[in-house]
Amino acid sequence: MINKKKTLLPLPEPALRTYKGMSIPVCEPTQWGNEKKYVKRCMDTNWISSKGEFIAKFESTFARKVGAGYGVGVTNGTTALHLALAALGIGPGDEVIIPTFTMIATPNSVRYTGAKPVLVDSELKTWNIDASKIEEKITKRTKAIMPIHTYGHPCDMDAIMKIAKKYKLYVVEDAAEAHGSIYKGRKIGSIGDAACFSFYANKIITTGEGGMVTTNDKKLAENMQIIKNHAFSHERHFWHKVLGFNYRMTNIQAAIGLAQTEMLEKLADKRIENAMMYNSLLKGIEEITLPPSTKGIKNVYWMYGILLKNWSRVTRDTIRYELASRGIETRTFFIPIHLQPVYKGWFRGKYPNSEYLCTNGLYLPSSTSLTEKNIKYVAKTIKDIFYRAGHGRS
Ligand SMILES: Cc1ncc(COP(=O)(O)O)c(C=O)c1O
Repeated sequence: MINKKKTLLPLPEPALRTYKGMSIPVCEPTQWGNEKKYVKRCMDTNWISSKGEFIAKFESTFARKVGAGYGVGVTNGTTALHLALAALGIGPGDEVIIPTFTMIATPNSVRYTGAKPVLVDSELKTWNIDASKIEEKITKRTKAIMPIHTYGHPCDMDAIMKIAKKYKLYVVEDAAEAHGSIYKGRKIGSIGDAACFSFYANKIITTGEGGMVTTNDKKLAENMQIIKNHAFSHERHFWHKVLGFNYRMTNIQAAIGLAQTEMLEKLADKRIENAMMYNSLLKGIEEITLPPSTKGIKNVYWMYGILLKNWSRVTRDTIRYELASRGIETRTFFIPIHLQPVYKGWFRGKYPNSEYLCTNGLYLPSSTSLTEKNIKYVAKTIKDIFYRAGHGRS
């Protein structure tokens, strides 16, 4: 059944059915390396909590891979964001500029500090924060810009760093989705004052749950190491001069993370290979906009997202429901922050591009471990939906 009605907010999640033995999740972890071996070492040596050989090893190896001097491992990507902001001294009365087109953890991490998130629309060219609209949102209270490298495509970091320098603002990159991405020869993780990664199960590198802040600032890294551990002072145990948190990563998480980091290039390159296959199979469908890839960047395609053009006869939600009935899981794009019930009344202004992305976007199965057969099946199922709807403009 083809539903032509389009709503700003997505319809409820369609039930995923197994179809002819086929069920393809939108994403699942890949464990192709030393994960089991390293975790076994934690178990065998009894170092299963937040001390042990793998933590510092994972921090330094991951930081090096993303071009940074220091890494601070934490419990997840959200706590990475909060820790970075807190360690930079951001707090009540301050403002932090973020895109409205992002995941809820971005504004929430700002709110946890007592500061206020300030929203900017995204650009359709990259689906990232529109750097040309940042300056108009800067006030005396602005302390930082938090760009998000959406679905693995780097933001326009030259423009963002230039604005930050002009107004003396910190740049905290939300790199939760961009392990291995590159912007004009510089690795994501090494450009801003700090970059925050998530290692949730669907990320290119996972530790189950986990996160890391990377930075080139030694003092900031040392400060974050203290704050993430209840801010225990060096002078005496149980002596705390500043507010700390327990954001410690475990040795088991770090063991998995180290094994994954050893394979970062392979894991990211496979994601790119999958995206190229989707591109070549879907490029003939006029109603679809394929994911962005601008000049001078490496997009690692954390998720393979597509947009349905406004004039498409088939809506995004119809596609999702039809794919789910054939065993293919998808996700809608983010619902912008200014539309979230939890932020009702916080923001004014118009964010048309973010609303367009929200209404028309979905991402397809994107696991690193997808097979050629999986991708061909997904693409053919999509083509069939358009074919049945009378492919093309009326
Ligand atoms: C852009 C962005 N920021 C932050 C996060 C939060 O990461 P976590 O779920 O590890 O807390 C995510 C998670 O998917 C994300 O996509």
